[in-house]
Amino acid sequence: MNAKEEIDRLTNELKVYQDKYYKEGISLVPDSEYDRLSDRLSMLEKEHPELMHPDSPTLRVGSDLTNDFPEVRHTIPVLSLDKAYSDEAVLDFFSRSIEKEGGMLSFAAEEKIDGISMVLYYEKGILVRAVTRGNGEIGNDVTANVMTIRSVPLKLAEPVDIAVRGEVFLHKADFERLNAAENDEAKRAANPRNLTAGAIRRQKSSEARLVPMDIFCYEGFWSDRQETPLDHITILSTLKRLGFNINPHLAFFAETKEEAGRKLRGAGLEGDAYAFREIDSYIKKKTSERSSLPYEIDGLVFKINELDVRDRLGYTEHHPRWAIAYKFESPQAEARLLGITVQVGRTGRITPVAEISPTKLGGSTIRRATLHNQEYINELELAIGDTVSISKRGDVIPAVESVIDKNEDGNTTYKLPATCPCCGTEIVQVGGLQYCPNYRCPDQVKGRISYFASSDQMDIDTLGPKTVAIFYDAGLLRNIEDIYTADFSAASGLPGIGDKTISILQNGIKESLGRPFSTVLSSLGVAEIGKKGAEMLISGGFDTIDKLIDASGKGDTAPFVSIAGIGETTAENIIKAFRSPELLCTIEALRAAGLHLAAEKDVDEVAEQIFAGEVWCITGSFKAFNPRSKALKEIEKRGGRTVSSVTSRTTHLLAGEGGGSKRADAERLGVKIVGEDEFLSMIGSKGHDVPDDGGQLLLF
Ligand code: IVH
Repeated sequence: MNAKEEIDRLTNELKVYQDKYYKEGISLVPDSEYDRLSDRLSMLEKEHPELMHPDSPTLRVGSDLTNDFPEVRHTIPVLSLDKAYSDEAVLDFFSRSIEKEGGMLSFAAEEKIDGISMVLYYEKGILVRAVTRGNGEIGNDVTANVMTIRSVPLKLAEPVDIAVRGEVFLHKADFERLNAAENDEAKRAANPRNLTAGAIRRQKSSEARLVPMDIFCYEGFWSDRQETPLDHITILSTLKRLGFNINPHLAFFAETKEEAGRKLRGAGLEGDAYAFREIDSYIKKKTSERSSLPYEIDGLVFKINELDVRDRLGYTEHHPRWAIAYKFESPQAEARLLGITVQVGRTGRITPVAEISPTKLGGSTIRRATLHNQEYINELELAIGDTVSISKRGDVIPAVESVIDKNEDGNTTYKLPATCPCCGTEIVQVGGLQYCPNYRCPDQVKGRISYFASSDQMDIDTLGPKTVAIFYDAGLLRNIEDIYTADFSAASGLPGIGDKTISILQNGIKESLGRPFSTVLSSLGVAEIGKKGAEMLISGGFDTIDKLIDASGKGDTAPFVSIAGIGETTAENIIKAFRSPELLCTIEALRAAGLHLAAEKDVDEVAEQIFAGEVWCITGSFKAFNPRSKALKEIEKRGGRTVSSVTSRTTHLLAGEGGGSKRADAERLGVKIVGEDEFLSMIGSKGHDVPDDGGQLLLF
């Protein structure tokens, strides 16, 4: 028998054994015999890689080679879902969609699996890549690990070019078993999703294989539009025919139950048929079934069935307009209200915060929960000492939902103080909200400075709320603009402030001078002018701070409201802010410090967005970029985001001469390290003349 014949024979034989074992739990041969055949096949495949079958059973076994998860760009939009929290909101989605279309529609309803989003790319029916969601545009190639998932087909029933979205997950029972077997408590995962996420990123696929993950596939994107079925249920039945694992718990909604049933049967799918008005009973049924399912779900997904309608509705930046996720009510717990503290935000907004007895909820211990405002407290008739129900809304911010038991201490409904707890100024009411009107209130000032320096804004390392408070109390920082004039070297020795912190801070401040005008503008903290608002103003013609000041001075909202997305209230806010002597004073000081107060209009604005979706950090010094902020600009111009420290979200570290701990951090976190030469060739500067700081020309 020649090598080809032997490889073919072993491949087919092992596939039969694998299928029988994974699908029916039956071992046709003893493990030792299976391993012997599998080892022999691996050896032959290594000797004759050209003869290896693309769906060889050895691929399921994984390897000990180190994965590096290279970044790859998705060829389909990998978006998230819009959310609804009530059956009315889902029904509203149904009727809005039908109204927009002006005709009858039908909707598929699927379980929202709480796992890891994955895109499987097939070429001519062969799995070529499995890519994580990443930022929706660029994800990590985790093919070797995903190949170990038995329900992921390596070869399809037909030679199609297709991208398939699915959710990789772990059955609850497997999660319990694996966690119980883990002796090191610190290594135990909090939930099946976390364990899955860890397994998908294991360095060795032979280790990923030990976590018996599964997948449900729910969307298919054919490269050839002609091949794409006309509706979602046919996509599902086609995916099933091609070999994908489809969640069998499908429901289908139409005008009448009969019609829904007819359509399901027409597609050859099993499922529950419902009329639109039965939405609440469907949601109730699924909510009560949830805990007895063998895997975790965190909601239900409703999708328009007709693909031509999907095409017409299209996508927002974040989600398709043809689908909505109903999120289950978040978990609730009971706690005692120990007290209420009052916070003063950067805008002066007063927020009451509940201090509660430590309570376990959704995997963490909660000690504080938001109470929003006085009106909310009144609605709950909430008093100190009451027993309350706590929830995690949208699974993030804990909130007090209701009073379960009144206190027996005679406490009555809590009233916010009449004066600001920080500066003592009388609190004012604006709408239903409470504000401290004192612009110089220390908590507001600290909040403004922290906001200005935060990672989403000017991104000045180490200048977080705690450090800001220390500098404020020491009299070093009393305004945003003080950041650029304060002598921080005098601060060494303040509690928690060492020489290292100060040098990082000084570097961060220097780097922040290079941030573009849009960032400076949004960092000023003007109400409703965040990142998006700043961009809107700039592209709407307010591309310098002076234009904003001039127009505000005239007091007319018209030039602002003429910009799409800016309404009357926002315009009034802008005018008020850019007329206030305090903000004008800050702006002048920032101008003197050399910040960008005008948008740069240069040829580079049209630079190819080769770094879109990437997060870059830089370290060390550079021959071509002096000061370093010039390198940051090159990255930002090409669509990359820049940050001042290396975290797990960082995708690249641009490393020059010298540099400190960032390189080690990058190595530890597997962040790609790019040298100056490589960077120059990436941005296409090789062989070009690049002016240095003094305006001379440096030749590369
Ligand atoms: S549809 C364009 N269907 O939920 C298609 N998503 O919160 C959008 N998910 O990123 C996704 N089960 O990872 C869809 N049956 C299902 C799902 C599902 C789980 C995940 C998916 C998505 C996330 C959005």
